[in-house]
Amino acid sequence: MSDDFSGLTAYLGGRSSRLNYVIFSVERCSSTQDLAMSLFEQGYGEGLVVVSNEMSSGRGRLGRSWSATSGGLWFTLVLTPPKLTNLQILSLGVGSSVAKALRELYGIKAVVKWPNDVLVNEKKISGVLIEGRKSLGTALFIGVGVNVNNEIPEELKDRAISVKEVLTHQVPRAPLLAKILQGIEETYFKLLEEKTEEILKDWRNLSGTLERKVKVITENGVIEGVAIDVTSDGSLIVEDPAGIKHVIYSGDVIHLTQLPP
Ligand code: BTN
Repeated sequence: MSDDFSGLTAYLGGRSSRLNYVIFSVERCSSTQDLAMSLFEQGYGEGLVVVSNEMSSGRGRLGRSWSATSGGLWFTLVLTPPKLTNLQILSLGVGSSVAKALRELYGIKAVVKWPNDVLVNEKKISGVLIEGRKSLGTALFIGVGVNVNNEIPEELKDRAISVKEVLTHQVPRAPLLAKILQGIEETYFKLLEEKTEEILKDWRNLSGTLERKVKVITENGVIEGVAIDVTSDGSLIVEDPAGIKHVIYSGDVIHLTQLPP
């Protein structure tokens, strides 16, 4: 399906957005993160969005690679916060923005998995990667990948799903990108205005992790228990069978039980 991202800059600018969007759309690149970083070095600033139809070296969290074949929505948004921001809260908010966009545009029951995956039927439909570089100052590169019209590789089919598979038809990607950007923009300004609790409230409402038995793989070992909440800095609180509460800032979650009805 052909999509046209060229009208997006004008569309987003026309709705009195607080970010100065410039959409830079390419057919192919190594990673939209790298291309956004190099355009930033060349003088592009906050509001730059790099979107690519496919990527040869897409990056995921924790140094993993990210499969990014033709037809997915692969993009990076550049933000330059004027002060230090809590990246964990920002990334929870970006995950919520994707889940909300999928719900509002297509009625897909997407949930967020801590810290920032988006799942549908327990399979991953989207992932978020936020990066910075010492040499690039306070700039943040918000990378979002959504499986939209792309084919999921055979080896990932038990863990990943696309919008096309859920709806049984393809969808244009530009409206989805616009909706997600609007959500990220709202999150970003809430964060700058220190309305962190609003971001967390949204995330809790969309959560597919809370109230479930989970296994969390952290740098310091594996913790099993019930995910009971997130703290004000976005860490996950897991209560183990002995009643001890573990506060986890970074790790990989495995859901051990079904979502409560
Ligand atoms: C994860 O779940 O591990 C995060 C995946 C992030 C993928 C996106 S796609 C757009 C941007 N460019 C990249 O190379 N990675 C991110």
